[in-house]
Amino acid sequence: MARPCKGVALCDRLDLMRIFGAHFEAEPGLELHSPDRVETPDEIEFALAWRPGPEAFAPYPNLRAVFSIAAGTDGITVSRSLPRGIPLIRLRDPDQALQMAGFAVFQVLWHHRGMADLLTAQTHHEWARTPGGASPARRRIGILGLGHMGRQIARSLVALGYPVTSLTRSPPEPEPGVAHLTQADRAAFLARTDILINVAPMTEETRGLLDRALFDALPRGAALIQLGRGGQLVETDLIDALDRGQLSGASLDVFATEPLPKGHPFWDHPKILVTPHVAGEPEPKAVVENVRRGMEELDA
Ligand SMILES: NC(=O)c1ccc[n+]([C@@H]2O[C@H](COP(=O)([O-])OP(=O)(O)OC[C@H]3O[C@@H](n4cnc5c(N)ncnc54)[C@H](OP(=O)(O)O)[C@@H]3O)[C@@H](O)[C@H]2O)c1
Repeated sequence: MARPCKGVALCDRLDLMRIFGAHFEAEPGLELHSPDRVETPDEIEFALAWRPGPEAFAPYPNLRAVFSIAAGTDGITVSRSLPRGIPLIRLRDPDQALQMAGFAVFQVLWHHRGMADLLTAQTHHEWARTPGGASPARRRIGILGLGHMGRQIARSLVALGYPVTSLTRSPPEPEPGVAHLTQADRAAFLARTDILINVAPMTEETRGLLDRALFDALPRGAALIQLGRGGQLVETDLIDALDRGQLSGASLDVFATEPLPKGHPFWDHPKILVTPHVAGEPEPKAVVENVRRGMEELDA
């Protein structure tokens, strides 16, 4: 006997149907509904979201779980209609972690190998070799957060020969080649970090974490790679640290306001590389599998 279809409502300001619609259609037993096309909202048991509006979940009194299409859930927990007491299931997509790792490696090389200067030299037709300093052993990488993303990033950088240290609140599962420190050793972690990669989740504890005090605790000339969430960065402190020469450069993929407003000073800053939140995107197949797995666990 065929299993009854499970109604999954899209609860988001983004057009998630365009991205995920066809993938759910191909999945027997799952029906994805656009919020404006749900005829019987009390039959909807599951919701899929990333950045829902404040009332996005209000129409569905019988939700059993909410699925995030992303690694983080910070965009969902701010919705005041999110039902309390039901699971909020985040995405763990190995493909997305590989994308993040590739992106982080690119950004590390960008800073380590002075790509911004090389590109400027090219525009002037200058053969600007700067011999020495190319060995990965010369750039110590510090990773804030060693979860699903941070671990894959660490692995990739270790494979390239970079010395990698992670900082987390509790001691993580050991990762070969990675030195682990916890909050008590934060000062030591920062003092030995030439390139800082932030992949800690957005929490009250990490809000405004990337500030003047943190930048000043890094060795002079360190670089920042910000892949976490925009609210973790104190923007004026970053510009100040770059202009003072305390930091040599920053790669920013996430911002307090996205899209980054046209007139924002980050766009034109010569030491900042701006990318539009593209470090890692969820594979639709993984989103569908996550929903399927979550439902099976709830039904078990
Ligand atoms: N830019 C992009 O395209 C993109 C894509 C995907 C994800 N992200 C960002 O990456 C974040 C991490 O994703 P994930 O899947 O790796 O999350 P995760 O698996 O939950 O891992 C989070 C890691 O951060 C650590 N952590 C938590 N609070 C911390 C703190 N205050 N200080 C230091 N470390 C802390 C955790 O360890 P402890 O709990 O022991 O501290 C854990 O190691 C997401 O929340 C999202 O913001 C960005």
